[in-house]
Amino acid sequence: MTTTGNLDALLRETRVFPPSDEFRAQANVNDERIYERAAQDPEAYWAEQAQQLTWFRPFEQILEWNPPHAKWFLGGTLNAAYNAVDRHRESHRKNKAAILWEGEPGDSRVYTYDMLGREVDRAAHMLSRLGVKKGDRVAIYLPMIPELVISMLACAKIGAIHSVVFAGFSAKALRERVVDCDAKVVITADAGHRRGGFIPLKQNTDEALAGTDVRHVLVVQRIGEASGAEMTEGRDVYWHELAKQVPNTPYPPAEMDAEDILFLLYTSGTTGKPKGIVHSTAGYLVGANTSVRTVFDLKDSDVFFCTADIGWITGHTYVVYGPLSAGATVVMYEGAPDWPHRGRLWELVDKYGATIFYTAPTLIRTLMKWGPQFLEPYSLDSLRLLASVGEPINPEAWMWFHSHIGKGRLPIVDTWWQTETGCAMIAPLPGLTSTKPGSATRPVPGISAKVVDEEGNEVEPGHGGYLVITKPWPSMLRTVWGDDDRFRNTYFGKFPGIYLPGDGAHLDEDGYVWILGRIDDVINVSGHRIGTMEVESALVDHPAVAEAAVIGRTHEVKGQAITAFVTLREGVDASPELVTELKQHVVEKIGAMARPEEILFTAELPKTRSAKIMRRLLRDIAEGRVVGDTTTLADPSVIEQLKAAYKDSE
Ligand code: PRX
Repeated sequence: MTTTGNLDALLRETRVFPPSDEFRAQANVNDERIYERAAQDPEAYWAEQAQQLTWFRPFEQILEWNPPHAKWFLGGTLNAAYNAVDRHRESHRKNKAAILWEGEPGDSRVYTYDMLGREVDRAAHMLSRLGVKKGDRVAIYLPMIPELVISMLACAKIGAIHSVVFAGFSAKALRERVVDCDAKVVITADAGHRRGGFIPLKQNTDEALAGTDVRHVLVVQRIGEASGAEMTEGRDVYWHELAKQVPNTPYPPAEMDAEDILFLLYTSGTTGKPKGIVHSTAGYLVGANTSVRTVFDLKDSDVFFCTADIGWITGHTYVVYGPLSAGATVVMYEGAPDWPHRGRLWELVDKYGATIFYTAPTLIRTLMKWGPQFLEPYSLDSLRLLASVGEPINPEAWMWFHSHIGKGRLPIVDTWWQTETGCAMIAPLPGLTSTKPGSATRPVPGISAKVVDEEGNEVEPGHGGYLVITKPWPSMLRTVWGDDDRFRNTYFGKFPGIYLPGDGAHLDEDGYVWILGRIDDVINVSGHRIGTMEVESALVDHPAVAEAAVIGRTHEVKGQAITAFVTLREGVDASPELVTELKQHVVEKIGAMARPEEILFTAELPKTRSAKIMRRLLRDIAEGRVVGDTTTLADPSVIEQLKAAYKDSE
């Protein structure tokens, strides 16, 4: 745990990539003054961005700030589904592809804006038939199929609050989320495809709902008979059957107040009860819409491929509300990135002509592990911008992305944000910002992020501390569902009126922000405070290493000692010589105080289902404790493998 806000800045990284003249010339934002203008009057900046939405009634006041509670665009009314779909049906985009969907087995569907709109209307009629009204909660437990987007937008059209639960979650996790928000209806599928097998979604739903107040379950038939799904008379109804019973007419969009809740999304974190993060209608939509235009340079001609599952905030903002509100075309893929082969994503990039590709560092490190040969059959020529999110991207992973996917010519936007922030907060503007591998660069216009010490004073360039957001922004979470105290304490408890994301960050001499990982993971070796990202990046910098996770374990002399868990690139063998070499490599990159005490090789690292490394579990293993809650772990067998590896090393 941390005792001081100051983080030592250790990793040396000096490469800089300015935007190309060509990219700059065509960029949506290429006038540097946007930063200054937004900083001088953030409210005016956001009010101007808000004009990109279609309002039923214009807002009268931009912001009301009673810390920690913000209200944006007061008096305004609008509808999120109308903004994401219907307004495009009334424009030149009517017959433009909204969703290019590919199923895991290779089936595909295309929805134009007009077709999508009709499906949303039908689904809104269906939900209404099931008794769903404005303000009701609807839990959505679906795989990455078009009905997931249609369900979310149908809720938005009615004014119901959707709560999407990632389809990889268990019955227990679903139950917890359904009960917490008192969902009236659950939308699921009979089962979902996963790596050639099935996920028994309906069976999980039945288990989750026993004894709850859920009135109806709407079931999409994705698999059919082989799913083994059973229907409960009076409660369950198939989507395709109910669809036949409702009118094939437009569903009038509910006129929502700017501050009405659009959705809840539970963040599990690594411990404790999941928090239902509450997002508003107007503020969230303004944030999502603004960032696709500025950070992702989205144009009408773009095909946006975000690999995140819609069960996470990245999918909400960058598969659904951001690109659709801006009238773009999105690629949506149902399956795993390596199913049925390792080139699957690149095959899709070429097939659909994706222009913007947004993924997570963990995927890039997996590609590094495999080696670049599987990319050979693909041209990737349609791509013009790459982006990363979810964890700090190690400089070497950034360089790999840049050279092998970007062919050395595409801009990379590393976007730092959170479920709670709604949209990208620290990120380059690709037509303006010179990027540095491993840094999310600087706050986007309209966002005031700072790095502060324990007392809340801003650190000088060259130092580190807590990342904070000092002013409210439109897409910030409004509260935690049913637990406003938790909202206050978690995010505003340390520095009153100032949002604390919980990440450590370092500010370099140019004022660039380097996210160093979660503050709780910071390691303190003999008084040197070291961010996990720095040591991990030094390890990934070595040509033998694909991925690394480091933790601090208790050490009698140093306070903490560094243990590194390392995944090697394919074809590289583990050896005691390699251990020595890697330790030395870290010393050269950072300094002697960061030398790992021990290095363990492992085929996989424990990750959450949203692909973040679970360092807490690694600490448990290294300290010989009983391994804590593993329910959010994507592959629980990893723990046994790691424990065995750790024992062998002793
Ligand atoms: O620690 C930061 C890390 O992910 C956390 C937020 O996780 P979540 O709410 O699941 O949202 C992920 C998608 C927005 C942050 O507190 N994180 C996210 N993006 C980055 C990052 N760390 C470093 N660099 C990033 N680009």
